[in-house]
Amino acid sequence: MDNILGSDSDRWNADDIQRSAGEYIDRFIQSRTTFKMHNDLKKWIQKYLHMVHMNIELSDEEATKFVKVQNKVLTSVVLPECLLNCCCIKAAFKGNLDFRAQLLQKYAGAIQQHQGGWDRSVEDLTLLASAMLDSLMFAGGLSVGLVISCALGTVYSDESPCPDLELNEDTVDPIVWECVRYYSPVVGFPWYDGPEQAQRTILSLASAARDPDVWSEPEEFKLRDLAEHHRLSVAWADKAVDPSNPANSRICPAKHLSLAMATGFLRAWAARKDSFLVQGNIKITPTTPFMSNWEFIVTQ
Ligand code: HEM
Repeated sequence: MDNILGSDSDRWNADDIQRSAGEYIDRFIQSRTTFKMHNDLKKWIQKYLHMVHMNIELSDEEATKFVKVQNKVLTSVVLPECLLNCCCIKAAFKGNLDFRAQLLQKYAGAIQQHQGGWDRSVEDLTLLASAMLDSLMFAGGLSVGLVISCALGTVYSDESPCPDLELNEDTVDPIVWECVRYYSPVVGFPWYDGPEQAQRTILSLASAARDPDVWSEPEEFKLRDLAEHHRLSVAWADKAVDPSNPANSRICPAKHLSLAMATGFLRAWAARKDSFLVQGNIKITPTTPFMSNWEFIVTQ
């Protein structure tokens, strides 16, 4: 994962991300198609992440299907267990399992091709394909979209915690960092006390991001010095590193990729923002962010 997602990866760079986002947004402008939040954003994220993870070029239809299932799976995560065991709910989610099986097969093929042959067991291949799916469906696929949505919501909502905020070349980076702090895309970091898993502890990253002993005016959304964010942020589980055994480290392998994707998309959007008008009321709540759906219609 580190080799694929890390900052020294040969699979992605900031310029390529901004170009990809710009081309994607231009398709909406040229065809005068409404940009629907959040699904159209999520589709770009999946297209880009599939390319980075396994060199897979997702078609529009495949990206649409992936995002549809991703939304459904998220619903199932918050349903109580008694409901999950109910026959009609099981039937409704069966399609998700079939889709998962199809994806694992596709990913296994892509990994084999990318490796130029696979000299390990089929179990290892399936495990790696499954880790890729987890990274795409949950870990990375959700948090980057959340950060970009929060940034756009904060810029465009009438209920913004930072009224009159302007998105431009200079504000993109501080907006992204402040969104990661203020809205906490990953709210908690759980770990067990040992292999027996007798006790589970969850560090609240959302609380850490608003710790008054650490941050000045933690409840305010404001554009802060980037050096302050770099020094104080633990949003990517930055301290969870074990220098003696890197296999134990839990720090997010995609910190740089996620920042580059969020800033790259928003730079591309800022350069084209005059082509869009917001339609719909944007509701946005801090910590465990909830956002209503809204649309951008093309104006010119
Ligand atoms: C703002 C965006 C992101 C934030 C705040 C974030 C934060 C985190 C945190 C706190 C963890 C540790 C969680 C745990 O171990 O329970 C984590 C793990 C992980 N993240 Fe991210 N992440 C972000 C984006 C991404 C992206 C874009 C990807 C992939 C494309 C990604 C892939 C992963 C993976 C695979 C892990 C598990 C690593 C392991 O267990 O060794 N993350 N992330």
